[in-house]
This record gives sequence, C-alpha cells and structure tokens, in this order.
Amino acid sequence: MKITVVGAGNVGATCADVLAYREVANEIVLVDIKEGFAEGKALDIWQKAPIDLYDSRTIGTTNDYSKSANSDVVVITSGLPRKPGMSRDDLINTNAGIVKSVTENVVKYSPNAIIIVVSNPLDVMTYQAHLTSKMPRTRVMGMAGILDTARYRAFLAEALNISPKDIQAMLLGGHGDTMVPLPRYTTVAGIPVTELIDKDKLNAILERTKVGGGELVKLMGTSAWYAPGSAAAQMVEAIVKDQRRIFPVCIKLEGEYGINDCYLGVPVVLGKNGVEKVIELDLNADEKVLMEASRKAVREVMDVLDKLG
Ligand SMILES: NC(=O)c1ccc[n+]([C@@H]2O[C@H](COP(=O)([O-])OP(=O)(O)OC[C@H]3O[C@@H](n4cnc5c(N)ncnc54)[C@H](O)[C@@H]3O)[C@@H](O)[C@H]2O)c1
Repeated sequence: MKITVVGAGNVGATCADVLAYREVANEIVLVDIKEGFAEGKALDIWQKAPIDLYDSRTIGTTNDYSKSANSDVVVITSGLPRKPGMSRDDLINTNAGIVKSVTENVVKYSPNAIIIVVSNPLDVMTYQAHLTSKMPRTRVMGMAGILDTARYRAFLAEALNISPKDIQAMLLGGHGDTMVPLPRYTTVAGIPVTELIDKDKLNAILERTKVGGGELVKLMGTSAWYAPGSAAAQMVEAIVKDQRRIFPVCIKLEGEYGINDCYLGVPVVLGKNGVEKVIELDLNADEKVLMEASRKAVREVMDVLDKLG
C-alpha cells in the first residue's frame, strides 16, 4: 500500500507520522512546495522508526509528483491555515487554487487513488477536488466530522469524568459554526448521554464544539494539527484495511437528506472503495432546520468558488 500526503505542514506531517507509527501502509510519501521541507519531515519520521518500532518507509519530495505515482490514497492538506480573527471561508481564494493544482498532479500520477481533503474551507475544498479530479463522488471526500465529534467527545469525557473511549457520537453538516451535533445519537457505553448530563451542560458543550477550531486558533495563533492529522489518518486506515467503519465524512449529496449538489458531512461506511454507503438518518424537525442552515452556509461558499471559476 502507498499513501501520499500533500502538504508537509502541521496537519500533513502529523498525519504522515500517525500513518507510519500505526503501519497503515508500507510506503508513505510527503509532498510540499517548500524546498526541502517534506524531505526533512519525512526523514525525521523515518528516523523515529527504530525508536517507535515501525517499518513504514516515509519519503519526502519538493513537488515531484512522480514519486507519489500509483498511490492508493492521497490526503490533501496543502493550503493556508486560519489565523486569529479569520473564518475558514476567508481562506477560499488562496486555497482553491492550491487544491486545484494539487489535485491535477495527484490525478495525473495516481488516477486510481482515493482522495481525502483536509484543506479549508473543508466542504468547498472537497467540492474543488471533486470537480478537478472528475472522479466518482465516492472516491473524493473531506475530513471534518471525525475531528468535530472528537472535540465533542473529549469535552464530554471531561465533563463526565470518564474515558473518551466509551463515548460514541455523530454529527452532520458543514465544517463550520453551522455544524449539526446530534445529542440524541450520542451514547456513553450504550447509555444515552441525555441520561448522564443535564441539558444546560450538554448545550454548553455543543456550543463549545461548534467553535472548537476557533478556540485553538485563538490559543495558538494557527489552527490545530494533532487531532486533525490523526482524524485524516483514521480515514486512510479504514480505507486501506477495508474496515467498513462508520464515520461522519464530507461527500457530495445526491438526494440524501433531501439535498442535492452540496458537499456536507454525513455518516458513511468507509472501506476499500472509499465511501461504500451513505447512511441516511431520520432527522426530526429541529435537526432538519439545522441541516438546512448548514446547507445554505456551505452553498454560499460553493457559489463563491463557482464565481472564481
Ligand atoms: N478539515 C479540518 O478539520 C482541518 C483541521 C485543521 C486544519 N485544516 C486545514 O488544513 C490546512 C493545512 O493546515 P496546517 O496547519 O497543516 O498548515 P501549515 O501551514 O502548517 O501547512 C500547510 C503546508 O502546505 C504547503 N503548501 C502550500 N501550497 C502548496 C502546494 N501548492 N503544494 C504542496 N504544498 C503546498 C505549505 O508549504 C505548508 O507546508 C489548512 O487549510 C487548514 O485550515 C483543516
């Protein structure tokens, strides 16, 4: 198995590191536009192998996509991260061009790859990669939901003073403030979360989750990377090992949830063909309203991309 991660910055290098450490593939290629950067990060990850005892070979390259040829999965993390005061949507002008040119190179050398987009604004960059790649929608997807649910689960674990391992959660919608958390689908070792925490506390956690990315940007002056990098690696692993795991993943909706032509996070089954199945939940009236608001917000940014041409 061969995995390429484009962008050797904070998220990309973390993703490559997790992939190597977990021996998800025997060959991992890091690509970056900054001279020597990917080579250095890859060498550092490789030099950690004798310490952490893995044998995934990690190599880096400055924009030479021939080294990524015939990758099974490609993760795209190239692009600007947010700075304090910015929304993810503010990144569209710069990142659309980057994701477009990267996708062209990816498809040229790995026409059968499955693509996972991480660059922001996530839903619209998934749209960009899908448009450029001309691949079926099941092979071009975006990572956001695993991260957003992980934040939610971490906050819950803290509030309940229990292990995050026992918390299961699902959320829908775009990767932004309009994401749609689903408390009625949140369980703690099978127990509905609503039986363990009062409504106000749960609402406060949901609100904190919605702006969870912004909280970190404020603290660090740039966006997060450990959880995002691991989340992307978890998607790669599900595909490479054909695990058929269920995750919230951004994909083009074609009628599911009554939505057409919009890229939004929904629960899917991830396996060797990419998105094996989109799972449609029976939303209640309130959840439908939130999903529609999220659709509108993403559609507006998709329209900006369409205007950019
Ligand atoms: N989807 C999510 O949940 C999520 C979470 C965190 C960050 N992000 C996004 O991921 C992206 C990367 O974040 P980061 O913190 O790693 O940023 P970073 O600045 O640390 O790394 C980005 C890297 O991309 C490289 N790059 C730029 N243009 C390139 C090109 N044309 N080809 C190859 N490489 C190129 C840069 O040289 C840099 O090394 C940002 O857009 C950020 O907003 C998304």
